[in-house]
Amino acid sequence: MTNLTFPPGPPPANNLIAMLKVMRSFERDMMGVLMNGFDQHGPVWMMVTGGERHYVVAEPDFIYEVLVKQADQFHKNSDYTHPKKGLARFLGTGLLTSDGEFWRKQRKLVAPALHTKRIEAYAETMVDCTVRLVDGWRDGQEIDVDQDMMETTLQIVAKTLFNVDVSANSRQIGDAMTVLNEMSGTSNSAEALLPDWVPTPQRNREDRAVRELDGIVYKLIAQRRQSGEDHGDLLSMLLLAQDDDGKGMNDKQARDEAVTIFLAGHETTANALNWTWVLLAQNPDVERKLHAELDRVLAGRVPTLADLRQLPYTEQVIKESLRLYPPAHGFSRLAINDVQIGGYDVPKGANVHINAFRVHRDPRFWEEPLAFRPERFAPENEGSIRKFAYIPFGGGPRVCIGNQFALMEAQLMLATMAQRFQLRLAPGQQVGMLPLITLRPLGGLHMRLEAREAVTPPQAERVLAL
Ligand code: HEM
Repeated sequence: MTNLTFPPGPPPANNLIAMLKVMRSFERDMMGVLMNGFDQHGPVWMMVTGGERHYVVAEPDFIYEVLVKQADQFHKNSDYTHPKKGLARFLGTGLLTSDGEFWRKQRKLVAPALHTKRIEAYAETMVDCTVRLVDGWRDGQEIDVDQDMMETTLQIVAKTLFNVDVSANSRQIGDAMTVLNEMSGTSNSAEALLPDWVPTPQRNREDRAVRELDGIVYKLIAQRRQSGEDHGDLLSMLLLAQDDDGKGMNDKQARDEAVTIFLAGHETTANALNWTWVLLAQNPDVERKLHAELDRVLAGRVPTLADLRQLPYTEQVIKESLRLYPPAHGFSRLAINDVQIGGYDVPKGANVHINAFRVHRDPRFWEEPLAFRPERFAPENEGSIRKFAYIPFGGGPRVCIGNQFALMEAQLMLATMAQRFQLRLAPGQQVGMLPLITLRPLGGLHMRLEAREAVTPPQAERVLAL
């Protein structure tokens, strides 16, 4: 061990008191602790707690090695896979929480369900759900944007995944999901030090939420199996998928993949939109340019899939928002063998935490990194972005399988909403971050709605109408 080279970092925290101190500091201000570590030690640093090594990384070349070049030397770490303390306690062995050959086979089976051609059929659902939301908005009203975005993306995923409408079923699904979402950020807490078998109020609530959700999902699976029909939704695709030997998924695996898509597929996009609203309110020039594009291309009608190509600035706004506030702000791996990266040794069993938030704001790769400039993602500029300095969807073989779904959804939702309303931060609303599994606005996001004036059709159309 003595000849190994490790990155710099704070002194190890190996006794119980020191470990509790680290946990408390993470509970109080995780983002602050991580950023402080980068400020003090550089873009690759190491923390040792309870004898475990944690590499914290915001260096593109290092990230590339972990996600792509040496991807087969890494598995998901216990944040994902631990059956009691990781995401696996909700998601079982779905794509997000499985590894190795099993994951590879599942990825091949699930991929067709999220293929471009298939998801294009969901554009109308995405717009319909958003129109329903905006129809309920009133000029001057104050709303909790976070709640509205979360409910709408939940409805969209419920409809596209299970073909269930905002009915009793999806409300129940939504409630169970909300419990899981609330819980999903708490595994850092000191409670995690308790043995797995100790029942706590939090663990009991989680178990109840999982049982409720399972009841609904297994019923839907049974109905689908019985009818044998393609309902045009993602669940049908999952159930119809077969591997090279003609074998499909059993009910448990179909449940795990469906619940994974359900969880991964709505909270992330909702947060992408939350932060987009904040950034638009803070950057009126960008907002004006966005409105100009929406008015010119849509002239007051709702967007369709065919419009997306004509709305490049809308897409750039989303991409730039994903840079400044990446909903998946960090994700982790576990070294399954001894490896070397960038002159450092990473021994088997070490955790690597990739920090998208930090690398997205690194002045070495982004000019005026804190400025909200969608033009960075214009076709003429996008090519010069440093590889692996922009990783909102991860990268390599485990890149987000829903990234096209997410970009399409965010673009359509933003176009539908921003056409009719602009949002302003409510008096007293501070913008703070709550970094759970996703990066959420702290304490909700209260904003005031301002209806935009009815949009006049472009000049040419008016002349024709005369
Ligand atoms: C803005 C929205 C989204 C963001 C920022 C996002 C981000 C990510 C990231 C960073 C990963 C990789 C995690 C890792 O390497 O450990 C990932 C994986 C994944 N995402 Fe997304 N995601 C979004 C939307 C979606 C949607 C809409 C779906 C499904 C419809 C989805 C399903 C998944 C799944 C299943 C995985 C695991 C893939 C695998 O390991 O094979 N995501 N996502």
